[in-house]
Amino acid sequence: MKVLVTGGAGYIGSHTTLCLLEEGHNVVVLDNLVNSNLESLRRVQQLSGRSLEFRELDLLNAEAVSNLLAEGNFEAVIHFAGLKAVGESVEQPLRYYQNNIVGTLNLLHGMEAHGVRRLVFSSSATVYGASQDVPLTEKAPLDATNPYGRTKEHIEDILTDLGAADTDWSIALLRYFNPVGAHESGLIGEDPVGVPNNLLPFVAQVAVGRRNKVMVFGDDYPTADGTGVRDYIHVMDLAAGHLAALGYLANRKGVFRWNLGTGRGSSVLEVIEAFGAAVGRPIPYEITGRRPGDSAVSYADPSAALADLSWAAHRDLRQMCQDHWRWQQTNPVGYSSDG
Ligand code: NAD
Ligand code: UFG
Repeated sequence: MKVLVTGGAGYIGSHTTLCLLEEGHNVVVLDNLVNSNLESLRRVQQLSGRSLEFRELDLLNAEAVSNLLAEGNFEAVIHFAGLKAVGESVEQPLRYYQNNIVGTLNLLHGMEAHGVRRLVFSSSATVYGASQDVPLTEKAPLDATNPYGRTKEHIEDILTDLGAADTDWSIALLRYFNPVGAHESGLIGEDPVGVPNNLLPFVAQVAVGRRNKVMVFGDDYPTADGTGVRDYIHVMDLAAGHLAALGYLANRKGVFRWNLGTGRGSSVLEVIEAFGAAVGRPIPYEITGRRPGDSAVSYADPSAALADLSWAAHRDLRQMCQDHWRWQQTNPVGYSSDG
């Protein structure tokens, strides 16, 4: 199958592109490199032994996006491209709505004009908001609490309306829980710009000596050890979920939504301990106040994905930390070579 992958140079996109190439698909990656480095795709090609086509393009350039879809002969699109930093989205809401929503609309117009009607979209567990019963099923009400999350919620609405208006579309909305880890080779992984917002990349940078200690945001939550609980999922399991969704859409029309998580929650302290075990020494940390907007506990009920897609995550927290650490240790400054 010929697949267009938007945002394919990024963290989840590069791992999924690798799986697509390994499965024999032909891939064109569209990315403006605003949060990624072309080196990721060089390594994806090295690992797979196959080549892909790269287009440095901004989804906000509607004409260029349409031209690419006109000439591409694509059977499907996997749409990762978007901005994803929650705090930044609070400070720059217009940039987030413009990039994520207008970018998606440009993509959808191009797909519609050129007869491509199969789409896998990167949504997020953030659409469920902060105070809900766990485990979260796909039926939980949507209640995003920040502009980034609302871009995902709005795009889900747009895609749902599109699927209702034109029943030729096949659309998968994949709600990721907390993606972590790296390809087992250690060649590709997450390479955040600046100070990491998310727990695992922060812990990894402490382990490699780029930062002094992890700040644990609150130990007074109603959880076993008082720290926040999340459903961490290995990025390679997540990538496999995209291929499963693509396969499901091949002979079905409609709009489908699935949680992609493990169904198991881990606390911040459990993650810090597991990462220390992978590294072979304890990770220094300090308890500080809660981060505004954080929920106590979030984890998936992933049973719908198992039933429909025959997909389940099978890598555990130990492996997530080992693989994340291998990547961080061999690439202490990520993809950049200038230190
Ligand atoms: P990432 O930043 O590594 O990848 C996103 C890619 O999109 C980057 O390569 C970036 O350069 C590109 N991009 C952004 N805006 C673009 C535009 N206008 N035109 C072209 N390219 C553009 O992020 P990721 O972690 O790989 O996330 C991929 C997707 O999954 C995002 O949509 C994100 O919101 C979603 N998601 C991520 C997480 C997470 O914790 N990593 C959780 C849930 C959902
Ligand atoms: N945490 C710390 N210290 C840190 C960073 C995080 O204690 O330096 C804690 C948080 O309070 C939370 C847990 O670690 O309890 C996980 O935090 P992350 O920032 O790694 O992840 P979140 O669950 O807050 O959010 C992430 C993404 C969202 C996405 C959501 C669900 O940032 O964009 O997962 O997919 F929507």
